[in-house]
Amino acid sequence: MRPKMAVEICGIDFKNPVIAASGTYGFGSEHAEYVDLSRIGGIAVKGLTLEPRKGNPPPRIAETPSGMLNSVGLQNPGIDYFIEHQLPRLTEYNTRIIVNINGNTVEEYCRIAEKLQEKPVDMLELNISCPNVRQGGMVFGTDPDTVYDVTRNVKAHAGQPVLVKLTPNVTDIKEIAMAAEEGGGDGISLINTVLGMAIDAKSRRPILANVVGGLSGPAIKPIALRMVWEVSQAVDIPVVGMGGIVTGEDAIEFLLAGATAVGVGTANLISPTACMDIINQIEDYMKENGVEDINELIGSLIV
Ligand code: FUM
Repeated sequence: MRPKMAVEICGIDFKNPVIAASGTYGFGSEHAEYVDLSRIGGIAVKGLTLEPRKGNPPPRIAETPSGMLNSVGLQNPGIDYFIEHQLPRLTEYNTRIIVNINGNTVEEYCRIAEKLQEKPVDMLELNISCPNVRQGGMVFGTDPDTVYDVTRNVKAHAGQPVLVKLTPNVTDIKEIAMAAEEGGGDGISLINTVLGMAIDAKSRRPILANVVGGLSGPAIKPIALRMVWEVSQAVDIPVVGMGGIVTGEDAIEFLLAGATAVGVGTANLISPTACMDIINQIEDYMKENGVEDINELIGSLIV
């Protein structure tokens, strides 16, 4: 018998706990050439803003040991274009759709949430953690009062459950997660990228045009695991864990730490089949270890 892989996040059923993380899967169409998107638990689309954005100047990607830095700067076609052109295509697949929303102001976040109210979207991901923009993003996510305020306002305008996506670039992640929960957030996703930089010693210049960027990939997995573990114990809402997951066993570690589901990010840039491979590897782990239902693993870390 096949093990049960379905999980529930904020009242929504996911066929398995693997979600393609925002910013690494576009709007699904490129990956659809390589995998059946209907087999993936969910897809979090690239971060969207009210107006289209060109993003930061290049270079905006730098490879680092066991990871990469990005300073994309929220390049995206804008919420209206997404609703008209990309969302209809995505709804052809039997997967959960999570829309990552971004704003320069609280009002902008709220207007995007309003535009999505009646749309076939399963969840919003309130991105208050992007390190590559001057306004909004991480600026909102590093102060508990601001986190509470933006979450409460977006919730008042949202038609779907709201996952609040947190930045690791804070001293006390628990305090931030609790503020999101108090503001009415339905779940937490973490971690976004870790602020970093890369320097070219020959030219004596930074590699990224933006000088600093967000570090992702296996290099950040220990940080992500620690934060998922801390947050899972601090809040009563579900946690979606991410940060450096490239194998099924990595994903299992996040579930043990308390995550109900996982986001796969940078691994999608290494292999377009990464999400599918990880789903298969989770299933293999469950069979090999006599786990009949994935929910048995969630938060079952023995400390
Ligand atoms: O720069 C970017 O587009 C990254 C977004 C994010 O990390 O949320």
